[in-house]
Amino acid sequence: MLSAQQQSTGDRPWLDPAAKPQIVIENVVKTFGAFTAVDGVDLRIYKGEMFALVGASGCGKTTLLRMLAGFAAPSSGRILIEDADMSGVPPHERPVNMMFQSYALFPHMTVEQNVGYGLRRIREDAAVKAKRVTEALDMVELGPLARRKPHQLSGGQRQRVALARALIRRPKVLLLDEPLSALDKKLREQTQFELMNIQYRVGITFVFVTHDQDEAMALSTRIAVMNHGQVQQVGAPADIYEFPRNRFVADFVGTTNLFEGEVDHSEAGFTTLNCAQTGTALVADDPGRHARGQRVWLAVRPEKIKLTKEPVSGTRMNQLRGMVWELGYLGNRSTYRIKLDCGKIVTVFAQNERRSSQWAIDWSDEVYLSWTAESAVLLLE
Ligand SMILES: Nc1ncnc2c1ncn2[C@@H]1O[C@H](COP(=O)(O)OP(=O)(O)OP(=O)(O)O)[C@@H](O)[C@H]1O
Ligand SMILES: [Mg+2]
Repeated sequence: MLSAQQQSTGDRPWLDPAAKPQIVIENVVKTFGAFTAVDGVDLRIYKGEMFALVGASGCGKTTLLRMLAGFAAPSSGRILIEDADMSGVPPHERPVNMMFQSYALFPHMTVEQNVGYGLRRIREDAAVKAKRVTEALDMVELGPLARRKPHQLSGGQRQRVALARALIRRPKVLLLDEPLSALDKKLREQTQFELMNIQYRVGITFVFVTHDQDEAMALSTRIAVMNHGQVQQVGAPADIYEFPRNRFVADFVGTTNLFEGEVDHSEAGFTTLNCAQTGTALVADDPGRHARGQRVWLAVRPEKIKLTKEPVSGTRMNQLRGMVWELGYLGNRSTYRIKLDCGKIVTVFAQNERRSSQWAIDWSDEVYLSWTAESAVLLLE
């Protein structure tokens, strides 16, 4: 029997203070001349994690992976993998393999030759190597295509060849730089699940970079959100989404509406702020107590806002009035852009429950937006 503590942290080792991280990144800095690309990053990554690095272009994601792989050395700080300090350890001696942003396959080689290339530095009998190639191809379900050349494969199949080539050395950690970016949306979603299955089967830790937030949300155990070389927040996808630490994270991950204001009063459990722009008081659940007059931001996700034609009442309910400014029909849901009386635009997602409803909210309708204190987050920076 597992104890409650073990049960709750078994698949979330980062919550267990006794769990040992597999990768420790300690205050790592990387400078290029006067420019700081990675600025004091601290991360602990656990065995078997599917760890996502997200952030805008140029924020240092690839540079961080390259330092893990050993292709670049930190200017200061340390990287440990399974307790071993990686300083001065060359790439091929690290228990790590990297799949690059543009995973060039050799066009003149077959699928199996491309995969076998991953073993070129390994001293083994040809027969043993051939067996490992077969295993790696089976892992990504490409056995039947072993004799094809890259140009005879789909984008997703090519991506799996690159993955097999990276896995064949049996690394303990696989670093993937935008593994799915070359694929179209449909194929990407399908390949995401394949990648998850493969990772589950091989039990290797994956650290991957993605531009696609949905991909990070769908695939990862945890996400690190980076900005200008620094980690802004690390957490499980739901934590990052529901409890962003600051405006950058709230805005970068998913869509959010931000209202700037000053604290009017703050009690244990909730805070009321005066929002000068909307000219109203707003309320958000918050565990802290904040000084009157402190500048804060209330963040509310578009799916947490309810649209009605009549005002609604309730305790600790936020309510604003506006007009439907734009309406996008996305099949299963609609995106409304509501213009408030003050001119601010608020985004609202509404599920389309009925095919067409006589009560539906349409262009130019006057509407009320409401959301509870509980569905809002108070941000201090
Ligand atoms: N060898 C280098 N010399 C000088 N500057 C570099 C070098 N490598 C990277 N940089 C700079 O460091 C910053 C971080 O680059 P990096 O490639 O890590 O970004 P990234 O987060 O991977 O971006 P993208 O999402 O576009 O791939 C960028 O501003 C880049 O121009
Ligand atoms: Mg990059």
